Amino acid sequence: TKDENGIPQVILRSPRGASARVSLHGGQVRSWKNERNEELLFTSNKSKLKPPAAVRGGIPTCFPQFGNRGTLEQHGFARNRMWAVDENPPPFQSVDSNSTTFIDLLLTSSDDDLKIWPHSYELRLRVILSVDGHLSLISRVRNFNCKPFSFAFAHHTYFAVSDISEVRVEGLETLDYLDNLCNRERFTEQGDALTFESEVDRVYLSSSDAVAIFDHEKKRTFVIRKEGLPDIVVWNPWDKKSRAIVDFGDDEYKHMLCVDAAAIEKPITLKPGEEWTGRVELSVTASIQ
Ligand code: BG6
Repeated sequence: TKDENGIPQVILRSPRGASARVSLHGGQVRSWKNERNEELLFTSNKSKLKPPAAVRGGIPTCFPQFGNRGTLEQHGFARNRMWAVDENPPPFQSVDSNSTTFIDLLLTSSDDDLKIWPHSYELRLRVILSVDGHLSLISRVRNFNCKPFSFAFAHHTYFAVSDISEVRVEGLETLDYLDNLCNRERFTEQGDALTFESEVDRVYLSSSDAVAIFDHEKKRTFVIRKEGLPDIVVWNPWDKKSRAIVDFGDDEYKHMLCVDAAAIEKPITLKPGEEWTGRVELSVTASIQ
C-alpha cells in the first residue's frame, strides 16, 4: 500500500484482526490496531505528511542521536530517510516463534550521511505482529567500519490515550531521571506512579524491563517490555509547548503520551564487526483499574 505521498507502506495483519502499518519513510510504524480495529497509536491531525519531515505520531526511530545531544539534526537522521525492505530476511530465532507476521526494514550509510556521520553501519528494524496482536520491534545495528562508533537509539512511541489527566505510568518508581526541562539535571522519582498535570520531558535511567501505562477512561493498559534499551523517555508537551509545535494541534496533547524504550544516557559503542540488538514488545489489554 502507499501513503498520501506515494511512499510505500507495509501492512501486517494477525489472524484475529489486529494490524500494524509501517512506512518505508523513516522506518516508522504509522499505525497499530487491536482486534477491534481501534487505533492504539497517536498521529497528529496537523502532521506534515511530506518527507523528509517525519510524521508526528506512530513510532519514529531515533538514531544515531537522541534529541539535540550531538551535532546531528534533532533525534538523528534515521526518521527522515527512506528505508528499504529486506526481501530475504534472516529467519526468526526461537524468541520470535509465537509471531505470525513480520517485516524487516534496512537503513544503511549513504554517501550523504557519511559526510555528517562518518560510520558504515546497517540498521535492521524487524516489526513483528504476533497472533495475539502484540507489536514487537527488534532493532539491530552492525558496525561495518574499521573503527568503533557510538550511537543513541529510541523508539519514540506516541501512545493514544483518551485523556492525559487520567493516565498513570507505573514502573518508573524510585528511578533517577534527567529532566530536559531543567537542563538535564538529575532527579530521583519520588511518587508511586507518574501522573500528568503539566509538561513532562524526562529520560528515566536504567528502568526495569516492564513499564505500564494505565488509561483509566478507556480502561486500557499498555505494557512495554524491553531488552537492551535501558532508558525510558516520557514526553507530553502540554498546552504551551503544543502551541509552539507547528505540526501538532493545540489540544492534541490531551490524547497522546510518548513513552520510548531507549538507550540515551550511556551511548552504545560497537567495535568493528560488532552488532547490537534492542527489543521492545508493546501489548495492550482491557483492564480493571
Ligand atoms: C521527545 C523529546 O522525545 O521528543 C522532546 O524528549 C522533544 O524534547 C520531543 O520535544 C519531540 O521532538 P520532535 O523533534 O519530534 O519535535
